[in-house]
Amino acid sequence: MLTQRLILTGDEATDKPLIQQAAAIIRAGGLVAFPTETVYGLGADALNSEAVRRIFLAKGRPAWDPLIVHVDTPEAIRRYTRDHSVLTERLIQTFMPGALTLVLPKREMISEVVTAGRDTVAIRIPQHPVARALIRYSGTPIAAPSANQFGRPSPTTADHVLHDLGNAIEAVLDAGPTPLGVESTILDMTTFPPTLLRPGGVPKEAIEAVIGEVRVVGSVASEGEPLPAPGLSARHYAPKAKVLLCVPEPEVFYGTLKDALSQYAIVGGLRPEGWRVPDDPRLRIFEWGAWGDWETLAQRLFAGLRTLEAEQAHAIVCPMPPDEGLARALRDRLQRAAHEEPTRH
Ligand code: TXA
Ligand code: MG
Repeated sequence: MLTQRLILTGDEATDKPLIQQAAAIIRAGGLVAFPTETVYGLGADALNSEAVRRIFLAKGRPAWDPLIVHVDTPEAIRRYTRDHSVLTERLIQTFMPGALTLVLPKREMISEVVTAGRDTVAIRIPQHPVARALIRYSGTPIAAPSANQFGRPSPTTADHVLHDLGNAIEAVLDAGPTPLGVESTILDMTTFPPTLLRPGGVPKEAIEAVIGEVRVVGSVASEGEPLPAPGLSARHYAPKAKVLLCVPEPEVFYGTLKDALSQYAIVGGLRPEGWRVPDDPRLRIFEWGAWGDWETLAQRLFAGLRTLEAEQAHAIVCPMPPDEGLARALRDRLQRAAHEEPTRH
């Protein structure tokens, strides 16, 4: 199958027929990758089990790893989930549409293929206008994981999607790079206090300001620890190169690059603006952004990993972001990308 690239320009009149074309594919049980404000998703009709099964095949994703359901209104969240607490309602009002996914008890019409047999479903309302239009024109909730091969860095451009899934899906809606660049925050509302399963686009601090304390599970599960969420295995988001994390100080970054150059033929670096690097033709540098400007660094993280991988880097050196705000999501993805051995599967 040849994957169609449907290029959007931001002009409603010319984009509408393309998004409607994509919606027709979804309704017919096909697979369409589409932009959300976080990363590109790989969408199928969430009420069609056969279509959802194809997502798992295309991604090489294990059947035990459930998908996020994307809807366009709070009413739709109420239609597919139950047992909302006051806290859930407050979160919906404050953060949706946006980069927050809630895990809630599901209703029957959500298939067990989507939820990997669980009686809960992860659900969110994306903010990206293309994602919202696609859901609306499809007239059905859309199940969508990130549109990458399982275990690879998430896609933030249509090129990333085509690299990983070209010819395995019917179409990709190309609306340029996604604005946030890291996935949604996942919050399990079936525990009290609610449990943060994955740090993401909405910082924990912002959530706590609205609903009070949130429980945090260890961000990287290690041997012997129960997995906090089905898909949160330790090694994930990984490029082919080995990821080497260092203390976020310019001199340590320089020294780590030097060390890596003595061990690997080609070394990549995600460089914060203005940080010094060794002068060596075997070094590949991705200009990441100003250290501390987490919005920019988040937007460019996965593209940086993929670019350095395409430049054949055997190792990628990267300073470790702090455990706070949006930086927590970057730290989490990098820790998983750097993890040596899968502790499960
Ligand atoms: O920003 C995002 O969330 C993107 C865009 C496309 O919406 N989607 C995304 O999906 O990152 P995915 O499949 O790559 O990650 C979803 C995570 C998985 O780790 C999965 O295990 C977890 O959500 N998840 C899904 N349903 C769950 C459930 N019922 N309980 C606990 N975790 C769940
Ligand atoms: Mg993913």
